[in-house]
Amino acid sequence: MTAGYNEDLAYIHDVGFRDYALKSTPGILEILKQHQIGSGLIVDLGCGSGLSAEILTQAGYQALGIDISAAMIAIAQARVPTANFRVESLFTAEIPSCAAVISIGECLSYAFDANSDAVLDSLFQRIYHALSPGGVFIFDVVVPGHVAPRETLKSFTEGEDWIVLVEKQEDPTQQTLTRRIITLRKVDGLYRRTDEVHRQRLFDRYTLSEALNRKGFQVAVSDRYGAFSLLPARMAVCAHKII
Ligand SMILES: C[S@@+](CC[C@H](N)C(=O)[O-])C[C@H]1O[C@@H](n2cnc3c(N)ncnc32)[C@H](O)[C@@H]1O
Repeated sequence: MTAGYNEDLAYIHDVGFRDYALKSTPGILEILKQHQIGSGLIVDLGCGSGLSAEILTQAGYQALGIDISAAMIAIAQARVPTANFRVESLFTAEIPSCAAVISIGECLSYAFDANSDAVLDSLFQRIYHALSPGGVFIFDVVVPGHVAPRETLKSFTEGEDWIVLVEKQEDPTQQTLTRRIITLRKVDGLYRRTDEVHRQRLFDRYTLSEALNRKGFQVAVSDRYGAFSLLPARMAVCAHKII
């Protein structure tokens, strides 16, 4: 069912773009401590290659990672054998009773499958229901402002055995960001090309906060996880299920 993060992009994300998870998770641990959540199950929606799950388990939490990409989950399972992982869409996954839910790296913005207001509303409802009293739902999403209207932003990043080329466009009418991604990965001495298109939904701070408030969450919005500042045009949210 994967529409993105197939084998080569999953590998490249894990080796070349791990900083986001590695720098966000310590800030998330701080938020958990501020809410007196020192143990229990943390559900990681869009867990990717398990980088956060590894830090969480080392800190004494149990982790369940859910990701739509089988390639990501394969890396995650090898990295953290003591955590549980499932290949599933976060928008339809059953969320077990837990102390906290996290979703790092704008996973809620992706539109690989049914990403609509109604689906999001149902997700917030299920998360609220699954959280213990005092639990938190911590996540970040993409907001408008990545690319100027009618402009195309092109960039490339390279590693030892890979290159990734990205072309980004924002559609203010549809409130979407489209990333066209070409990966080149060296396999058996030759570079293998793959293409992916990621469409992401751009969120409005007030609409998102209101949707969470309606479920009973108290919402705090930020541009950082602890000491780690998010990249531009991202927003971090901490939704608290008040006791
Ligand atoms: C930018 S990566 C972040 C991965 C990880 N959280 C990290 O910080 O390293 C986004 C992740 O969201 C996952 N994703 C996107 N849409 C999803 C969905 N509907 N259900 C589950 N996972 C999804 C992708 O497969 C990918 O692993």
